[in-house]
Amino acid sequence: MIRPILIHPDPRLKKTCAPVDAVTTDIGQLAEDMLATMYDAPGIGLAAPQVGAMTRLLVMDCVKDPAKSPRPMVMLNPVVTWSSEDTSIYDEGCLSIPDQYAEVTRPAKVRVEWLGLDGKTTEEEFEGLWATCVQHEIDHLNGKLFIDYLGPLKRQMITRKMEKLKRELARNA
Ligand code: NI
Repeated sequence: MIRPILIHPDPRLKKTCAPVDAVTTDIGQLAEDMLATMYDAPGIGLAAPQVGAMTRLLVMDCVKDPAKSPRPMVMLNPVVTWSSEDTSIYDEGCLSIPDQYAEVTRPAKVRVEWLGLDGKTTEEEFEGLWATCVQHEIDHLNGKLFIDYLGPLKRQMITRKMEKLKRELARNA
């Protein structure tokens, strides 16, 4: 089931999410719905608070080439256990901040540990777009958006555009 994606500004996008304490059928359903919602958008990552679920769950698939097999990933309680000193800059966007992009500097490589839907803990190192994406999505679980890395003027400009978009969406609903 495709779930509606919250648009910034929304208080739920500013909150720290609670850890998943058990892999229940509800968590499995949420992960499945979030993957469907992400692919439909389309996007490469989605965090649970973006669909109003205040739990530490994210999904991502950074395989953009349609000729390659997709790699849907589901992470529960993801934690960055190591980040590289070298950084990379990526023009980031967000499904909760549609059509707005800005350059964000982050560690170029990160190691992440997470719990899978199978209840097993996995650790993996990510680089390139995967590294940017997983850090962006983990930020969501801590109530942080990519615009929080920008200067106040740029951030306010984007927030005003989103407020206007939300008014238009509400009028046309
Ligand atoms: Ni995002």
